[in-house]
Amino acid sequence: MSRTVSMEILVLVSLLTGAFLCYAEASTQCASAEFKCSNGRCITIRYLCDTGNDCGDLSDEQFCEPYHCHPLAFQCLNGKCITRRRFCDGSGDLCGDNSDKRYCNIDSSTQCPPGWIRCPSRSRCIRSSWVCDGLTDCIGESEERNCEYNTAKTQDSDAKSKLKSWVLRRRKPGSMADRWGSQVHRIAVALHLADNSTFDGGNRTGEEIRYELTTQLLHRLAKDREMSSQELALYIHALLVACMDPRDFYGDDLVRELRRRVEVSGNYTNPFLILALCNAGDIMTARDVERVTAAYDSQHRPFWTDSQALASMALSCISSRSSVPVDESTLMDMLQELKRRQFSNGTVDNFRTTALVTQALFIHDSYKKDFDLDSAIKVLTDGLNGSKSLLDTYYALPVLSRKSLLNVTSGHCRKEPVAEEEALQKVLEVTGEMMTVQYSVWMGDEINVGRTWRLRMRVNSTIYDAIETVAKIDNRQKVEYNVVDGKPYVAALNGKEDDSEMGMFWFVYLKTLSSDKEPKLMEESPVDIKLQPNQEIILWYKRGPWSGQSLILKPVTSP
Ligand SMILES: *[C@@H]1O[C@H](CO)[C@@H](O)[C@H](O)[C@H]1NC(C)=O
Ligand SMILES: *[C@@H]1O[C@H](CO)[C@@H](O)[C@H](O)[C@H]1NC(C)=O
Ligand SMILES: *[C@@H]1O[C@H](CO)[C@@H](O)[C@H](O)[C@H]1NC(C)=O
Ligand SMILES: *[C@@H]1O[C@H](CO)[C@@H](O)[C@H](O)[C@H]1NC(C)=O
Ligand SMILES: *[C@@H]1O[C@H](CO)[C@@H](O)[C@H](O)[C@H]1NC(C)=O
Ligand SMILES: *[C@@H]1O[C@H](CO)[C@@H](O)[C@H](O)[C@H]1NC(C)=O
Ligand SMILES: *[C@@H]1O[C@H](CO)[C@@H](O)[C@H](O)[C@H]1NC(C)=O
Repeated sequence: MSRTVSMEILVLVSLLTGAFLCYAEASTQCASAEFKCSNGRCITIRYLCDTGNDCGDLSDEQFCEPYHCHPLAFQCLNGKCITRRRFCDGSGDLCGDNSDKRYCNIDSSTQCPPGWIRCPSRSRCIRSSWVCDGLTDCIGESEERNCEYNTAKTQDSDAKSKLKSWVLRRRKPGSMADRWGSQVHRIAVALHLADNSTFDGGNRTGEEIRYELTTQLLHRLAKDREMSSQELALYIHALLVACMDPRDFYGDDLVRELRRRVEVSGNYTNPFLILALCNAGDIMTARDVERVTAAYDSQHRPFWTDSQALASMALSCISSRSSVPVDESTLMDMLQELKRRQFSNGTVDNFRTTALVTQALFIHDSYKKDFDLDSAIKVLTDGLNGSKSLLDTYYALPVLSRKSLLNVTSGHCRKEPVAEEEALQKVLEVTGEMMTVQYSVWMGDEINVGRTWRLRMRVNSTIYDAIETVAKIDNRQKVEYNVVDGKPYVAALNGKEDDSEMGMFWFVYLKTLSSDKEPKLMEESPVDIKLQPNQEIILWYKRGPWSGQSLILKPVTSP
């Protein structure tokens, strides 16, 4: 029985494949309004991402590709990075979508988006990370006053942005569906806890992560029924922060599945699983309290302290968010014991354990007594100079925002669907007589709506025009065609191709919105089908209609 627990924790550690990369930094110090080049030179932040080689080694123009922005540069809504020099300077539209102007000359009733704050003179929004960085971004009263009092805070947020951009740099160019890799669930959680605007509507990084999370998880659920409970819990956390419902992920109730596994797992359960269930709002029981206390008491070195920190967080979650009675003194004893593991230099066992224990000690502000928070945080910020793994970063980043795995919720999610495509479509400047149509991508025979766009198209547009419009809005939706008799037919979308061996193909269906009629399969080429107003075009990846068998996403089952 006890072996099961260690195995699950080992899975957690072994998931780290290839994540060890270095975070190197030269030793010179730059002033706060300066950017430190890789060659050690200091240049003013204003020259970052202005396409000039100001460092001499081009390092000021690194991390300026779309979606890769340095935190001190400005990221446009379309992902492009521009230099702060041009933010709100009244000159031409450097972004190409005018999104840099959205933050200038705003009236006082307009709220700044999350992660942005209003200038003292109120007519402008600036990124919170630009406050006290030595560069004045506000007009009128400057945001760079009263900064000396907050040097420790600035150092923290400095470390935080470094760590965050380290995570953002994990993004690989190349295949649209594999930019963030197998750790995308942890990346989603870490970025959300570091920056609650990550999964706001309109944030392309968040959109991209959400998309990859979806395709990756769909793939895992369909293909690999061996997914561990540990991984299932990580995906549930990621879905929560990314504003997707883990209880209805394309028809699968992942929370119920995790609960089922916990119930059959016997007396020892990885406390992380209980924490994930609790964060997802599952009904907690007295058995869960027993499970986490048992996990706390069982001793599995060398991951002992980590499990105990997780157990404390799980117990705190049960205590604060369910009606199950929890003996608060048990929780306090647990936290007290964790504090005793801190060495005089601030470390608790190692970098990662320090981060996780500090997260646990945010419970009821327990760090305030018998624990040296400042040294613990110093361990984390100093540790950044050494080599980092994604797992280390995933645990440390929330601490620098004074957050923990207890803050993994969907509380920040808006209820209305995000309409950023419509906003972006304005950029395409469609004119003339228009009509509204809908465009959806479905996967699998069970009608699993992948995504839907509302489009304004010119009258007499064809299905082909609609497909190409969506590809322009979102380049992950690029379609490849087979040409038959000189006409194109859909053969692949986002790298997912017709697969004759599996019997899975792309089909084009049409449906009239607001009618109960089933979608109708279109046999003609998309260039030959003119759209009518209020039609829905469906690109559907499914088994051919000639095959009676239906492919239903396999429910997750225990190995
Ligand atoms: C989008 O999210 C990323 C990742 O957290 C963040 O760095 C970026 O500043 C966000 N962009 C906006 C416009 O909020
Ligand atoms: C599980 O715990 C219960 C009571 O706590 C005990 O009766 C039972 O023997 C335990 N089962 C195993 C397999 O350890
Ligand atoms: C802190 O102290 C412990 C125990 O004395 C030691 O093992 C560890 O290497 C030290 N860590 C740092 C960062 O100095
Ligand atoms: C890490 O780098 C910072 C400055 O970049 C420096 O102040 C600090 O002393 C370094 N820490 C270690 C342990 O080298
Ligand atoms: C994070 O979670 C803790 C514990 O649930 C809570 O007290 C705190 O307010 C949360 N912080 C934020 C910023 O939501
Ligand atoms: C996001 O974080 C900012 C400050 O970091 C805070 O003011 C804001 O309330 C947070 N928003 C949500 C929805 O938690
Ligand atoms: C649409 O096509 C019809 C018939 O082909 C034509 O009469 C009409 O003028 C076209 N409308 C526009 C706006 O192009």
